[in-house]
Amino acid sequence: MRKFIIDTDVGGDDAAALVMALREPDIEILGITTLGGNVPIENTTLNALQVVEECGREVPVYMGCNKPLMRELVTADNVHGKDGMGDCGLIHPTRKPEKLHAVEFILETVAAHPDEVEIVSLGPASNIALAIMKDRDTMKKVKHIWSMSTCGFGAGNITPVAEFNVFVDAESYAVMLNSGIPMTVAGFDLCLGDASLTPDELDGLLHTPLGRFIAEGNRVKLAFNESLTGRAFADLPDTVAMAAVLHPDVVTESVTAHCYCCAEETPAYGQVIIYDIKKPLSVKYDIPETFTTVIKAINPDLFKQYLYASLEE
Ligand code: RIB
Ligand code: CA
Repeated sequence: MRKFIIDTDVGGDDAAALVMALREPDIEILGITTLGGNVPIENTTLNALQVVEECGREVPVYMGCNKPLMRELVTADNVHGKDGMGDCGLIHPTRKPEKLHAVEFILETVAAHPDEVEIVSLGPASNIALAIMKDRDTMKKVKHIWSMSTCGFGAGNITPVAEFNVFVDAESYAVMLNSGIPMTVAGFDLCLGDASLTPDELDGLLHTPLGRFIAEGNRVKLAFNESLTGRAFADLPDTVAMAAVLHPDVVTESVTAHCYCCAEETPAYGQVIIYDIKKPLSVKYDIPETFTTVIKAINPDLFKQYLYASLEE
């Protein structure tokens, strides 16, 4: 049985990703670790506890980094609401997070299950980078990191060249990317177009309690996207990433690439340059020998089928 740690800055799309995993019978979620990102860690942790409760599960939640390793926290409450889940009174968990710090939990769990633990990273990389810097040898025993991050092969959502999870803490992202731990990246590009939900598709979730929870938790995004693009839609990047983790048939194309993360204080901060090793470049560039799998395309209809199925009673 696959063993997971899910590291997350629970906003609406993380919540839908967590539901998809928590309702998957054939996997073991050893714990959920939270950090600051979409909203401050106090909120992301309450949100994680609420999602676990909504799913009737007992998975422990561990709090981690409340801010990036080297910079102040940038949040996305304009996208998710102040509480991260649509500011509509959804969040009132009865349980508390564990006392152990998320980084200690990650290290203890990986040491206890060498070469078995898959980490799904749905937010900035601060917790994972701190674990790597604290005990690189133990983290080398992580089986795989699945990361919702980067623009993929599209444009940025926080700057023209940077995606939010990398932009919040590019220094940490570079540590994770260069760690040598096998890694697959699902970029922001994958959640757009047919993979995003129309207002009607979001309303189509309302017929079950979990569907209502996820629909209301992602409703702020409709207005945000409409203000930005003139079209109301709900993109669910973390949920697409989780679908790819749990259901490989969702992925229709991937490339092996060397990825370089720009972590210097320049307008390119947070950009991840993806060198597809099969795409010869016109200029000679000695691509370093650290490779990452980057998902290039998914089947949006299949993604939605898995999403809808996870929300049924
Ligand atoms: O850029 C999208 C990512 O940033 C998602 O993980 C979303 O939840 C936010 O954290
Ligand atoms: Ca997230």
